[in-house]
Amino acid sequence: MTQDELKQLVGQAAADYVNANVPEGAVIGVGTGSTANCFIDALAASKGRYRGAVSSSVATTARLEAHGFKIFDLNEIESLPVYVDGADEIDGTGAMIKGGGGALTREKIVASVSDVFVCIADASKRVDVLGQFPLPIEVVPMARTAIGRRVTALGGVPVLRVQKDGSPFITDNGNEILDVKGLRISDPRTLEAHVNAWPGVVTVGLFAARGADFCLLGGETGVERIEYRKA
Ligand code: 5RP
Repeated sequence: MTQDELKQLVGQAAADYVNANVPEGAVIGVGTGSTANCFIDALAASKGRYRGAVSSSVATTARLEAHGFKIFDLNEIESLPVYVDGADEIDGTGAMIKGGGGALTREKIVASVSDVFVCIADASKRVDVLGQFPLPIEVVPMARTAIGRRVTALGGVPVLRVQKDGSPFITDNGNEILDVKGLRISDPRTLEAHVNAWPGVVTVGLFAARGADFCLLGGETGVERIEYRKA
């Protein structure tokens, strides 16, 4: 199976999970990226079951609206039964690197208020130790260089994310992203808290304090459900 086929498989599996476990009339939290897009496309067949969605990015909002989903501002919503999103890497505890699509801050906000976080990914995303994928950090532009120095002191190599024309990539929140190469993240929860405390950091793309509750992982033998939630 190709990677795209695996993404479709887990997108459909996540839609099946939501349809079977989330009550009718609920509002669903929806992530960003090509795997999340497969989930949106699969859930569209049953959109009438749901009041609507809280979206984690401008791109996801556009895709949801194209399918006819109503979009809610998170401020209007008291609780979200489920949040479904992809990952760039996921380790054996359900901690993830996210933000390859640049939506890490809104993703982390929506994940933080959701009862259940379902990660959907193809098997290439599963790792023993996070850090092979560059760790995104969303920064307020004036703090970019100061944060870059702190990253270097940690042993990482900060690279400003740019667009095809060479201009800085700007997030939906008007900020920039440093992609940090060269880190071996054996304690993601501690690193997440440490980097988040630096002035000028909006969000680090480590999702460890609020990791996934389970992952629907697509591989050659189908979709495997891997549980992480601690009792
Ligand atoms: C976007 C994300 C995505 O979930 C992550 O980059 C995975 O994307 P894809 O499903 O396209 O591989 O965190 O900010």
